[in-house]
Amino acid sequence: MIALYGDGGHAVSIGGAVDVSLRVSDATYNSSNAGRYEWCVAIGDNQTRSRIAKKLALEGERFTSIVAPSAVVLSSVPEGTCVLHKAVIEPGCEIGKHSIINSGAVVCHNSKIGDYTHISPGATICGGVTIGDGVWVGAGSTVKEKVRIGDGSVIGAGSVVVSDIGESVMAYGVPCRIIRGLEKVHYGTEHARRDI
Ligand SMILES: CC(C)(COP(=O)(O)OP(=O)(O)OC[C@H]1O[C@@H](n2cnc3c(N)ncnc32)[C@H](O)[C@@H]1OP(=O)(O)O)[C@@H](O)C(=O)NCCC(=O)NCCS
Repeated sequence: MIALYGDGGHAVSIGGAVDVSLRVSDATYNSSNAGRYEWCVAIGDNQTRSRIAKKLALEGERFTSIVAPSAVVLSSVPEGTCVLHKAVIEPGCEIGKHSIINSGAVVCHNSKIGDYTHISPGATICGGVTIGDGVWVGAGSTVKEKVRIGDGSVIGAGSVVVSDIGESVMAYGVPCRIIRGLEKVHYGTEHARRDI
């Protein structure tokens, strides 16, 4: 039985892709049912998704991956990650935990996507790209082959990323340029911290 944590737009998208037995929010999560469901944190914001995944892990909850029936997935998708409508993941990719490959996004061969990363609708990640943890690639962006994007960075919608982008920066445009720095966030694993 699949349970979703989240009541915003991303939860609506996932709910249209697979059968869901339970939906909760901060106000309605009940830890006395722990272990009964397999969870996906259905929240688009990477930091919030990470915080909730860690909270659920501490309660002893298990996570599931979610793959929409219309998606084409030729690499493995780990726990907590969801792949939405008509997304494509080609062979040879490594996809991180609790990430989102959103509707219509394409992740080409041999690319690496970190944990808690969000590839927004319609983005194209060309072959051999490396994207870190907690990265947000905006809708319709293209990341050129073999480019690397560091942990915690945000790539604005419609960008064309032609060269490496470091950690914890906001960047956008065609070609994509760094606009400003962002506060560093440590993602770690969902079992790593008890201070949440
Ligand atoms: C990059 C982004 C995070 C910046 O957000 P923000 O800090 O709130 O930025 P603002 O909207 O205040 O815009 C600030 C300036 O940047 C420009 N800008 C913002 N995003 C841009 C983008 N993607 N490409 C080009 N210019 C952009 C704005 O035009 C504005 O320019 P101005 O100062 O000359 O008027 C946001 O615009 C974005 O692209 N988000 C991704 C949305 C998305 O893909 N959603 C998918 C959800 S599933």
